[in-house]
Amino acid sequence: MSKKRFVKGRFKKGASDAVLAFTESISIDCRLYKYDIEGSIAHATMLAECKIITSREKNTIVKALKEIEKEISSGKFRFKMGLEDIHMNIEAALAEKTGEVGKKLHTARSRNDQVSLDLRLWMRDQINEISLLIAGCQKALILKGKENKKLIIPGFTHMQHAQPVLLTHYLLAYVEMMERDKGRLKDCLKRVNVSPLGACALAGTTLPIDSKITAELLGFKDRNPNSIDAVSDRDFCVEFAFCLSTLASHLTRICEDWIIWSSQEFGFIDVDDSYCTGSSMMPQKKNPDCLELIRGKCGRVFGNLISLLTLMKGLPLGYNRDMQEDKESVFDSSDTVIRCLNILKGLIETSSFKQYNISKFTDKGFLDATAFAEYLVQKGIPFREAHKIVGEIVLKCSDAACAFSDLTLNELKEYSKVIDNDVFDILGA
Ligand code: ARG
Repeated sequence: MSKKRFVKGRFKKGASDAVLAFTESISIDCRLYKYDIEGSIAHATMLAECKIITSREKNTIVKALKEIEKEISSGKFRFKMGLEDIHMNIEAALAEKTGEVGKKLHTARSRNDQVSLDLRLWMRDQINEISLLIAGCQKALILKGKENKKLIIPGFTHMQHAQPVLLTHYLLAYVEMMERDKGRLKDCLKRVNVSPLGACALAGTTLPIDSKITAELLGFKDRNPNSIDAVSDRDFCVEFAFCLSTLASHLTRICEDWIIWSSQEFGFIDVDDSYCTGSSMMPQKKNPDCLELIRGKCGRVFGNLISLLTLMKGLPLGYNRDMQEDKESVFDSSDTVIRCLNILKGLIETSSFKQYNISKFTDKGFLDATAFAEYLVQKGIPFREAHKIVGEIVLKCSDAACAFSDLTLNELKEYSKVIDNDVFDILGA
């Protein structure tokens, strides 16, 4: 990236290299180039329709912008740090190509509405991509359930054996969580999909523009009716970061479960070798690194949310340069979540549940205790009383190191007369 001092009309001297390096955002926002060009093409089209530029001028601008897009995507374009950001880099390249005509593009526009526009266009695509990746993980979970249709696992509360559940039931819990994650993103999209164009620096323009045209061309559902809010609002970034934080926290829960389940103590699941690594010292080790890293990466996703909230807190109304810091956070959250979802999908698909080991656990821990209490309820015993009776039988069985079903009917009858032979239908389930 080359440096070029950019001295404008108002200035006697340019910024030092250190200041340019400190204030640039091109190293971060260069990835927005496609959206910046899409926005500029729509803007030029609107300017022509409103007769602010001629249609010939518009055609020259659009052609040059498309050339610039190709140069950037093929890696030929040289970004200049001295031109601060993607908006100025593209605008300068346009002026180089088209001279006076290109200098008309920034009519009735400011980087303040432009940067919000670019981010919104980018975010729309990210929301779409992330939603599809979530759906991919959901599908993997459903298929894993189908592969293990009848498998019963201990369900846990407080990390203690609670009640038996089907593995499918457990897996579908994550499918539900992810469904809400998709729903939240869909809702967030409503507020992302609002055009800020026409706001210019903060107070609009005296020129006869029509922001309906740009909004329509760019597929926006709404336009922000308040120009000051349009350039000051970063709620959509905070909201996006929040949606991804909730999603990331859901991912940590499945990771945590499976890290524990893949331990020697549990042995419920075998995470495929291709998602694990060994130890440099201990030859026997197979560590579930991908699961641990997804769990760990949640930290930065939360961190980005807090950064954005803190960035916006107490900011005076209008654009403030502080807001340039928004992009690093949303980009990082999005990149991180996309990487995690991609890895998790493959990991789910290739993991296998160890039926034999799991069944050893479902026989222990009195998982049938609640069903037993409910059996008594059906025989007319009030639930609190049934709870107490079964509790006493648990105590006896624990002392004798046996299961409910190891007791004889007569032994069981000592605790309640209503217990009959049919109790053995529900015990040991
Ligand atoms: N580089 C800036 C950013 O990313 C673009 C907007 C700059 N606007 C301004 N008035 N300096 O936020």
